[in-house]
Order: sequence, then C-alpha cells, then structure tokens
Amino acid sequence: MLNTFDVAHAAALEAGAILSRYFREGFTIRNKGVADLVTDADVAAERRVVEVIHAAFPDHAILGEEENAGESSAEHLWVVDPLDGTTNFAHGVPHFAVSIAYMFQGKAECGVIWNPIHDDLYVARRGHGATHNGKPIHVGQQNQMSECLIGTGFYYDRGAMMEATLSAIGDCFRQQIHGIRRFGTASLDLAHVATGLYGAYFEYQLSPWDYAAGQLLVEEAGGKVTTCDGSEMPISKTSILASNSFVHDEMQSIVSRHLLR
Ligand code: IPD
Ligand code: CA
Ligand code: CA
Repeated sequence: MLNTFDVAHAAALEAGAILSRYFREGFTIRNKGVADLVTDADVAAERRVVEVIHAAFPDHAILGEEENAGESSAEHLWVVDPLDGTTNFAHGVPHFAVSIAYMFQGKAECGVIWNPIHDDLYVARRGHGATHNGKPIHVGQQNQMSECLIGTGFYYDRGAMMEATLSAIGDCFRQQIHGIRRFGTASLDLAHVATGLYGAYFEYQLSPWDYAAGQLLVEEAGGKVTTCDGSEMPISKTSILASNSFVHDEMQSIVSRHLLR
C-alpha cells in the first residue's frame, strides 16, 4: 500500500509536469481579484493532484486553493497549492512551485515543494528532517538580524496591509539587515529559510496552502514558525513569521509592531 509521503511526492511531480507544459506552450489568465491572477494551469494541476490523492485515499479531505474547500478540521487533510507563484508564472518568471502537505489530526506529517523548472525538490517528514534534492537541510546560524537576508511578501493587498509591510521592511533595514527579497512564491520563501538562505521570512497574510508544507520544512530543518505576534500557527488565513529561531524574537518585535489587528 502507498504511504502518504509517496502520494504527496507523486502528486507534486505530476502537477509539476502539467505546470511545465503550460509554461512552455502557453496558458490563459484571468483575474480573481485586483492583481490576483489565476491561469488554466493552476486549475489543471489542482485537478490532477486531487485525482492522485483520491486514487490512493478516497476518504481524505482536500483543501486546495482553486476548487477544493476541504474542512481544515478533517482528521486526514491534504493542503494543496497547485501553483504557488502564479504572478511569476503568468509573467514568464520560472520561480514557482507545487506545494502539498498531508496533515493528520491538525498536524502536518509530510510536505513536498517542487519547482519543476529548476528541478528543485524540498521534502519534509515529521520527525525525520528535511531535504533539498535528497540532501539534508538546516536553517542558518545567524544570531542577529544584522547578519541576515530577509524574505517577505505582500499577499494581494494594495491598502493597509501593503503599507504595514512596507513599514516593517523599513524597520528591518534600520536593524542593518544585509537585504530584503520578495521573490513571489511563499513556499519557496519558506524553503529559503529552511536551507539557510534567509535568516527569516514574514508576510502579513497567507493561506494554509501557501505555508502548510513550508512550515513543516522549516521546523524539520531546525527553524521556528509562528504568526507575526508569536502565536501558534492556525490552519486558516494568518500572518506568518518563519526564522532560523535565533533571530525570531528580534524579528517578532518588529513585525508584530506593524501587524493590523
Ligand atoms: C502567493 C505567493 C506570494 C505571496 C502571496 C501568495 P499564489 O501565492 O506565494 O509569494 O506573497 O501571499 O498568495 O497566489 O501565487 O498561489
Ligand atoms: Ca500560494
Ligand atoms: Ca496558487
């Protein structure tokens, strides 16, 4: 019998192959909201992920960004972003990923993040560590923000949340960070924390499909993930602060200051 990790892995590879084909051959784009895009690749990839999961586990719930509103309280829950980084994808930027996590009783058991263009595979299994293309990964060792490169994102807001993010970025720079990056794919931002490229990453709003696999990856690589005010992560829309753990408090004092309540 297949285990959940093998299914997550197989589903991510299949969805990635679909994304690669659309990326090469063309796709249609529509707007879900102001500056929030979706393509036919997002939908086709999610449908394939659902087929692969349900072929193995017909009773499991699926919470997917495009078409699957699975209950986050389900005992067996798959959390799926079929295309994380749609804006990059739509503009021809090859920095996007499939993100799939399997959760049992509210806790992520395994997660897979796959960038099919760069052949980058990130995998985490609860209690068994995290890997990048088969090699174990660990968060960075920076003790202070002044030694760090930081990642961030803006969700799709063009109002108060965007302004709050800009204010927090200003405060990060005042701590003499090495730099800030906004690469546009939350799952890969979390992978950058897990591999030590970023000392920390924050965003004022993300959905479970953006962070479920990446959260486990960071935790299994030795890092820490909380909301921006330091609470435990829910399985719902939330702010997020992921770090190597050593700079978590210093980051939290800045990002919590600008968090909209
Ligand atoms: C988005 C990306 C982006 C982040 C947004 C997400 P999508 O996901 O991860 O980096 O800043 O908050 O919504 O819409 O491309 O799947
Ligand atoms: Ca996403
Ligand atoms: Ca998406």
